[in-house]
Amino acid sequence: MADAFLVRGGASLHGSLPVNGAKNSALKLIAAALLAEGRTTIANVPAIADIDAMLDVARHLGAEVGRDGDGTVTLDVPGEVGTATPPELVRRLRASIVVLGPLVARHGRARLAMPGGCNLGSRNIDLHLAGLSRMGAEVTYGPDYVEARADELVGAAIELPFASVGATENLLLAAVTARGRTRIINAAREPEIADLATMLCRMGARIEGVGSPELVVDGVDRLAPTHHAVVGDRIEAGTFAVAAALTGGDVTLTGVDPEHLRLALDKLAAAGVDVSGDAAAGLRLRAPGPLRGTDIATLPYPGFPTDLQPQLLVLLSQARGTSMLTENVFDGRFSIVAHLRAMGADIDLEGHHAIVRGPTALRGCEVIATDLRQGAALVLAGLVADGETVVADPHHVDRGYADFAGRLRALGADVERADAARARTPGGLPRAVLGP
Ligand code: EPZ
Repeated sequence: MADAFLVRGGASLHGSLPVNGAKNSALKLIAAALLAEGRTTIANVPAIADIDAMLDVARHLGAEVGRDGDGTVTLDVPGEVGTATPPELVRRLRASIVVLGPLVARHGRARLAMPGGCNLGSRNIDLHLAGLSRMGAEVTYGPDYVEARADELVGAAIELPFASVGATENLLLAAVTARGRTRIINAAREPEIADLATMLCRMGARIEGVGSPELVVDGVDRLAPTHHAVVGDRIEAGTFAVAAALTGGDVTLTGVDPEHLRLALDKLAAAGVDVSGDAAAGLRLRAPGPLRGTDIATLPYPGFPTDLQPQLLVLLSQARGTSMLTENVFDGRFSIVAHLRAMGADIDLEGHHAIVRGPTALRGCEVIATDLRQGAALVLAGLVADGETVVADPHHVDRGYADFAGRLRALGADVERADAARARTPGGLPRAVLGP
């Protein structure tokens, strides 16, 4: 069955939607649970494929995993956890590299297959490994595995040349039970890292500087299991905010802190979207009038989030004027442009800049998801395209969005998840020109 999103443009989105727990926090909270023997419970965990993969990694390492219907995950972690993860699991999920720190911290060694996950250009783990080496780990790696060993991890001053989210998290997870003090300088500051630090402190860790560019960790002998609820997903919220803006709708998003996507909301406001509300009442997005072009550059938090870049490219294609979007975080994240061009968008690429001229009418087209944010953005493009858009390979979107079609439908969108053969104009759709 050629599973796909079938999107018919024209509806504007209205209503209220609860935002799920943040994928990019929950994945790391599961790794953190491995640091403490006993039962840890994590609430507000999104029902997405990446979480399924991470829970399989936790099971493989010896944890007993339970999930109830309302998003609470239970992890019963044994005194001895495993120290190796099978290639097929790690290749499904790049983020599983974040178990490296905890495994070395708990048992002095870890052997992981090299990570898989999104194909967003060259995604290295050199900063993770260099930091663990600074803490006394002996790191070796081959073409398809990485191994770290340490009789004892010792606190160190580690300066990150780039505020890497994953490296910050891996090193934080290693430092909380290392001997002595670790300073992570130029640490990433994403809200998901603050969420991880909050849970670790509840487990008994000693962490200062959360939210600042320098984390100071004083190692403790052992951590205790705990309960924690995942922070709201700012990227899922931003995705639905763009959907509301694109369709001239009026949508309220609950369960997310607007401060966690402040710069993205400022850019939506600059483009003519009416942004209001707060964490308690909900974030409200209205787009009564035409959208205006604006320039955007992605940067580590609190800069504009790269995970909203494809979605904003769609929005800028519908905004009046010429906009420049610069991607500073990943070197291969413009895969959506070829598909948007095939739908009629006027976008030129110059290095890590995308120059977008709008507004341009988009026409329904058969396009292909290549990663989760690009795939979600193609569905958003379908919401404003003339006719029907078929987004193939929707499994990429399932990695980070629970029931994406159903949640958009709940706001009034004409989107369904079905066999592509059910497209109203099967075969009649021009296939997207798959450019670079
Ligand atoms: C996390 O990826 C997120 N994933 C990404 O979200 C997000 O785009 C990214 O942070 C930036 O915010 C998860 O949290 C599971 P990085 P991560 O380490 O940790 C380079 C999504 O759509 N780098 O900050 O991999 C790297 O190549 C995903 O939910 C090194 O060179 O991001 C990249 O160009 C996509 N060496 C840049 O830094 C390293 O050792 C950002 O990487 C580590 C990173």
